[in-house]
Amino acid sequence: MSSSDPAKVAVLISGRGSNMQALAAAQGPEYQVVLVASDRPDAAGLAWARTEGLATFALSPRGIGKIAYEDALDAALRAAGADYIALAGYMRLLSDTFVARWRGRIVNIHPSLLPRYKGLDTHARAIAAGDAAGGCSVHVVTEELDGGEVLGRAEVPIRADDDADTLAARVLAEEHRLYPAVLKEFVRA
Ligand code: GAR
Repeated sequence: MSSSDPAKVAVLISGRGSNMQALAAAQGPEYQVVLVASDRPDAAGLAWARTEGLATFALSPRGIGKIAYEDALDAALRAAGADYIALAGYMRLLSDTFVARWRGRIVNIHPSLLPRYKGLDTHARAIAAGDAAGGCSVHVVTEELDGGEVLGRAEVPIRADDDADTLAARVLAEEHRLYPAVLKEFVRA
């Protein structure tokens, strides 16, 4: 790969895939999406990717176990020539072995202002805490859940009448802006 070639990015999803769509829409000289992979063969985002002509890989770990599943995923990523992995609503924990294989080349988008609210139910927790703002963060994936270096954040003010759903909707719009912008910077660095 010459320094002027776009980076090859594989996007991992588990569901709707709206962040994956935002990443695909922003493809260009910085990166190309070479694979959309899912641990859920019924993920809505996979159907969208297929209609867009993107390469897809779908495999459930159910019945084969985590090690065989991740080995097959790793093989698919390498066959696609991926340089980087972007987690986009991928709701399964990657093993330490997998993270080590791709060290420094996996990023994730998380719906909170990290380091606050790692894990699930981030918007409800931000509202319950009385925070003035919620938001989203893009970070490097390490063995620690939602714990790697933060590459970028976007803040969204919390309104008095917000519930987790209304806040999530406004944060999601910011996710769609933040993720492609941060990914472009990350693969250029
Ligand atoms: C997004 O809000 C993303 O930040 C979150 O899941 C949603 C996926 O939506 N990810 C996590 O909670 C990861 N822990 P999408 O499938 O429409 O991109």
